Amino acid sequence: MKRLLLSCAAALAFAVPAAAQTSVIHAGKMIDTQRGRVLQNQYILVENDTISAIGSEGAIKRAAGQEPYDFIDLSEYTVLPGLSDSHVHLTSDASVHGYKRLTVSTPRAAITGVVNAQKTLMAGFTTVRNLGAPGFADVDLNAAIEAGQINGPRIVAAGRSIGITGGHCDNNLLPFEYKKKSGGVADGPWAVRAKVRENNKYGAKVIKFCGTGGVLSKGTKVGAQQFSFEEMKAIVDEAHLLGLKVAVHAHGEDGINTALRAGVDSVEHASFITDAGIAAAKKSGAYLSMDIYVSDYILSEGEEAGILEESLAKERMVGKKQRERFRAAAKAGVNMAYGTDAGVYPHGQNGRQFKYMTDWGLTPMQAIQAATINNARLFGLEKTIGSIAQGKSADIIAVSENPLENIRALEDVDFVMARGKVVKK
Ligand code: ARG
Repeated sequence: MKRLLLSCAAALAFAVPAAAQTSVIHAGKMIDTQRGRVLQNQYILVENDTISAIGSEGAIKRAAGQEPYDFIDLSEYTVLPGLSDSHVHLTSDASVHGYKRLTVSTPRAAITGVVNAQKTLMAGFTTVRNLGAPGFADVDLNAAIEAGQINGPRIVAAGRSIGITGGHCDNNLLPFEYKKKSGGVADGPWAVRAKVRENNKYGAKVIKFCGTGGVLSKGTKVGAQQFSFEEMKAIVDEAHLLGLKVAVHAHGEDGINTALRAGVDSVEHASFITDAGIAAAKKSGAYLSMDIYVSDYILSEGEEAGILEESLAKERMVGKKQRERFRAAAKAGVNMAYGTDAGVYPHGQNGRQFKYMTDWGLTPMQAIQAATINNARLFGLEKTIGSIAQGKSADIIAVSENPLENIRALEDVDFVMARGKVVKK
C-alpha cells in the first residue's frame, strides 16, 4: 500500500503542468457558426486545449506574449469549428451486418471502435454521439481517448440502447432456444427506469431508446410503435432527472409523435414524420437527426455486407420518403441535427451527408450549423464546442476550398486540431 502511495506521488510530481502549449492560427476565412457568417483574416490564440482569444493579428500576437508559440498559417483556407455527428456507432463495422454480426465479440467490437474513432477524427469530426454500443464499449472508448491513450473524437456515449423484447433494439436473429436478448431490453415503466439508472451508473451520457421498428433489425416493422406512452414517459422523466438527454430511434408516425409527447430531445431517422410531427418538434424544441445519406450505402453495398433481404426491402420503402420529409422539416425550420448512422456505412465518410442535406433543402451554412452549433446545443455542450469562440475547446478544422461554395469540400478536410492538438495537417 505504502509503495503504491509513493508511486502515485511520483506520478503526480511528473504531472505538474509544463509551460502552456500555445498556438496562433491565421484563418484566411473563418466560419462563424453562431451568427451564420464568414469573417476574413482572423487570428486565433490557442492555449493548451482551449481557444483563449480571437482577433486581429496585432492583438493576438500581443496576447500570445513572449513565450515561443506555434504559428499555423491557414491564410489560404476556410477554417471552421470541428464537426460533430449526432448518430454514430463507432464499434460497428459497415462490412459486417446481419448474421455476420453474431460472430463479433464485445472486445472485438471495442477494437473496431479504436480504429473507427481515429478515422472519424481524421475526417474532421471532433465530437460524436455514439447511440448504442454493446457492453458500454463506447464509454470505455471515450475514457481511453480522454486519457490520451488513443486519438479520437469526444464521445457522448449512450452505452446500451433501451428497447422492448423483440424490438429494434433487441437482437432477433436466433431462434427461441438460444435465449438471446440484448442488454438494453426492458418492458414496463419501472423496468425501463431501472435500465436508465443502470446506463447512468455505467457511464452513459445520453439515453437512446427504440420507439419504432427499424430497417436493419429482423422481424420489426418501421411503421410500428415500440413502447407505450407510459414507458416512453418513464424513460424520458428518469433520464431528465439524472441530467441526461434522450434520443429516440423512430421511423413511423405514431412512434415519433408519442416520443415527442413524452419529451424526447431528439428524434433519430424521423423518416415518416408528418406535418403534425414537425409542428410538435418545433414546439418542443426537439432536434431531428435524419440520416439521409445512408440509404445509398445500404442499397448499393448492403447485400454484400450481410444485410438481410427483408431489411433491403424495408430500406427501399424508407430512403426516398425520408428525404422528402427532410425537405418538409427543413422548410418548416425545425432544429436540425447532423446525424448519419455511421457504422451502418463506413466511418470517416461522415461528411458525405452534407451534400444530401443541401440537395434536400438546407443552405450550405445551415448544413454546417447543423453539424456544429446545433449539435452542440443538442448534446448540451454549447459552452464547449460548436463554434470558434473564446473559452471553447480548440477543436478546429480547415479546408482549402470554401465549403459554402462547394459543400463537398467537407468530405475531405485538410487540417484537424482536436483539443488544441494538431492531428492532421
Ligand atoms: N439503423 C437504422 C435502422 O435500422 C438505419 C436506417 C437507415 N435508413 C435510412 N433511410 N435512414 O432503422
